[in-house]
Amino acid sequence: MTVDIKKGLMGVTVDETGISKVMPEINSLTYRGYAAQDLCANCEFEEVAYLILNGNLPSKKELKKFEKEERKERTLSKSLINIIKQIPRKSHPMDVARTAVSVMGLEDKEVTDNSPKANLRKAMRIFSKTPTALAAFYRLRKGKKIIAPKKKFTFAENFFYMCFGKVPNKEIVKAFDVSLILYAEHSFNVSTFTARTITSSLSDIHGAITGAIASLKGPLHGGANEEVMHMMKKIKKPENADKWINNALNKKAVVMGFGHRVYKSGDSRVPTMREYFGKVAKIKKDKTYEKIYDIVEKVMIKRKNIHPNVDYPTGPTYHLMGFDTDFFTPIFVISRITGWSAHVMEQHSTNKLIRPLAAYNGNKYRKVKVLKKR
Ligand code: CMC
Repeated sequence: MTVDIKKGLMGVTVDETGISKVMPEINSLTYRGYAAQDLCANCEFEEVAYLILNGNLPSKKELKKFEKEERKERTLSKSLINIIKQIPRKSHPMDVARTAVSVMGLEDKEVTDNSPKANLRKAMRIFSKTPTALAAFYRLRKGKKIIAPKKKFTFAENFFYMCFGKVPNKEIVKAFDVSLILYAEHSFNVSTFTARTITSSLSDIHGAITGAIASLKGPLHGGANEEVMHMMKKIKKPENADKWINNALNKKAVVMGFGHRVYKSGDSRVPTMREYFGKVAKIKKDKTYEKIYDIVEKVMIKRKNIHPNVDYPTGPTYHLMGFDTDFFTPIFVISRITGWSAHVMEQHSTNKLIRPLAAYNGNKYRKVKVLKKR
C-alpha cells in the first residue's frame, strides 16, 4: 500500500491558531490581526509582547503594569549566575540560553502548574530573565564583570546596557526594537511546533521553551541570521559580491537568509527591517554590508527567483550594532519567547497529543537468534 507522505509536513495544516497569520489580502504577517510593520511603526516591543501573550494591545495602565512586572523579574538567582559562570566560555550562547531556561524550570515553584494563569506568570519570568542570562554570558566570556539589569530601562535598552554597559542612541534602540517585534511570532515554524509538540504531552513551559531554543539554533531556522553574517564576512567587499554569489549558486549552495517555507515571493518583514538596516548603516557610517546585501539579493532574485527572509537584514544590522555574530540567534530567542509562550498556552487550552504516523521502510519481520548463534 502506498502512503502519501508529506515530507517536512509541507503544506499540511495540523491545527488552528489565533496568534498569527500571513494574511494574503494585505500580503503581510499579522499578530492577533495587526500587521507586523504597523506594530513596528506605532508600538514599542513591550506593547507587542503584551499583545502576543494576552491577545490585545494594552491600555496605558495595562502596559505600565506589564512593564513593571517584566522589570521586576529581570534579576537571576545566585545559583543560576553561578551556573552561567561555570559554563565553558567557548559554548555557543544558544546552548547557554537553552541551559538557562532549563535551570529556571528547576527553580520555578510553579513548574508543574499548567493552568493559564500560572503559565502566563512563568512565561513572564522566562521572558524577563533570559536576556539577563545571555548578557551575563556575553560579559563573562569577554573577561568582563556581569552588569545587573536596571529597572529604568526598556526591554531593548536594558539588553544593550547589560551587554555593553551603555545604551546607544534612540535610532539604534528603535532599530533593535523593530527587529524584536519582527522576530516575535510566526505561527507553526519549526521551533514553535517543537514547543507545541512538547506541550501536547502535557509537559511544562520551561521544557517546551528549552526544546524550542534547541530547534531555533539550526541554520535552516533562526541560526540563519548568523550564517548571513559569516557569508558577508567571507565576501568582505562589495566588489567581490557578484562573483562570490554566482560561484555559490553554480556550486548549488544553499544561500542563508533566502527562501521561506511560507512566503514564496518575499517575506513581508524584510522591507521594514531593510529600512532600519539602512538607518543603522548610515549612523555607523559603514555602507559596506548594505552594498553587499543589495548585490547578493539582486543575483538571488535574478538567477533563482528566491527572495530574502528576515534573517538577511537582521544579521548585518546586529553586526553594525556591535553584537558578536553568535549572539544574533540568541537575540531572536529573547523576542520569540513571547510567541512560543502564547503557543504553549494555546496548545494547553485545546490540547490533543501530537503523534503522527510514519510509513515503515525497515526490515521485514525476523526472528531473534540468541547471541552465540549470531
Ligand atoms: N538558497 C539556494 N536555493 C534555495 C534556497 C536558498 N536559500 N532556498 C530554497 N532554495 C531552493 C531549493 O534548493 C529548492 O530547489 P530544488 O527544487 O531545485 O531542489 C527550492 O528552492 C525549494 O526549496 P526548499 O528547500 O524545498 O523549500 P523549503 O520550504 O523546504 O525550505 C528553507 C525553506 C527556509 C529551509 C530554505 O529556503 C532554506 O534552506 N533557506 C536558507 C536558510 C534560511 O535562510 N532559513 C531562515 C528561514 S526564515 C526565518 C527563520 O525561520 O529564521
